[in-house]
Amino acid sequence: MAKSKKILKKIGILTAGGDCPGINAAIRGVGKTAITEYGMEVYGISSGFLGLIEKDFTRLEENHLSGILTFGGTILGTSREKPYKKDSAGSQKTDKPKQIKKNYQEMGLDALVCIGGNGTMRTAAMLAEEGLNVIGLPKTIDNDVFGTDLTFGFDSAVWIATDAIDRLHTTANSHKRIMVIELMGHHAGWLALYSGIAGGGDVILIPEIPFKEEVVANYLLKRAMNKKPYSIVVVAEGINKPKGISAANHISQSIQKYTGLETRETILGYIQRGGSPSPMDRILATRYGAHAVELIAAGKFGNMVASINGKITSIPLSEVGNKLKLVPADSPLIEKARKMGISFGDR
Ligand code: F6P
Repeated sequence: MAKSKKILKKIGILTAGGDCPGINAAIRGVGKTAITEYGMEVYGISSGFLGLIEKDFTRLEENHLSGILTFGGTILGTSREKPYKKDSAGSQKTDKPKQIKKNYQEMGLDALVCIGGNGTMRTAAMLAEEGLNVIGLPKTIDNDVFGTDLTFGFDSAVWIATDAIDRLHTTANSHKRIMVIELMGHHAGWLALYSGIAGGGDVILIPEIPFKEEVVANYLLKRAMNKKPYSIVVVAEGINKPKGISAANHISQSIQKYTGLETRETILGYIQRGGSPSPMDRILATRYGAHAVELIAAGKFGNMVASINGKITSIPLSEVGNKLKLVPADSPLIEKARKMGISFGDR
């Protein structure tokens, strides 16, 4: 009799942290590969780590995974539950990690796929340290997960933000105004940088590059004097600014104060995280999902799936936790943009 390649395993999937386009494509990639290629049982855990604490899960059969490729959000739901977080007194009412371990065992799971951003990878690494068979899948529109060149969700968000900037161009031109657009990114400016370049932004302000308000103002005045009657300023939400004001409002007020030029601001907000994933995100999420199952089948636990120089590979979760992938000051894209006269507000 021919040897069967099927290894029976039960795997759980959860999605944690902020959502983004492509999560369902990843769930589908994991689930279909696990069921079709390896004959595994797949369980979808609700609302991130909360579902694992509360033992809230459902079996995902192949038919549950059909038709979800193009859906935004996550069919499993998500939460920002951080099971290792202590209260201000340094304790927890219930020992959540212990509860998670207990439920993982009671569910009979052989592996757990955690789809999320930095915070999720940190929790996944801690659970792996405690002996759970964990695989991480990096997703976020911020593209700031350490150890991978790309997270899915980023490409879709760049499309959405670029489209928004394109639209601002036409109204800016009609009214001869300065348009400030704020994009997501608390610590990392990848989204503002890529969308800013793709959308033809004149000024791009990101958290990694300290800017001076006067430099931005002088640059915009110079443009106005050079018969460029409108300008687009792309700002990441995490730039240095006073507390209690949005990045867009702060920059807009500062521009008006220093230049007297008519300025308007737009905060794109959660639109950046919603809707159908781009084709590239669908492909990346599918590849990540399939690779996660290959790692499980090979028993290579405690790893995060990653894309490095275009190759899908993996990196130990222990090397990922507590680190962020920020835009390097010597980024070739920034260097090229500077040579074209785009300002980053620093010189
Ligand atoms: O998904 C990452 C991110 O989009 C950040 O850029 C943003 O600041 C944050 O999530 C806000 O998400 P929430 O309001 O869901 O916590």
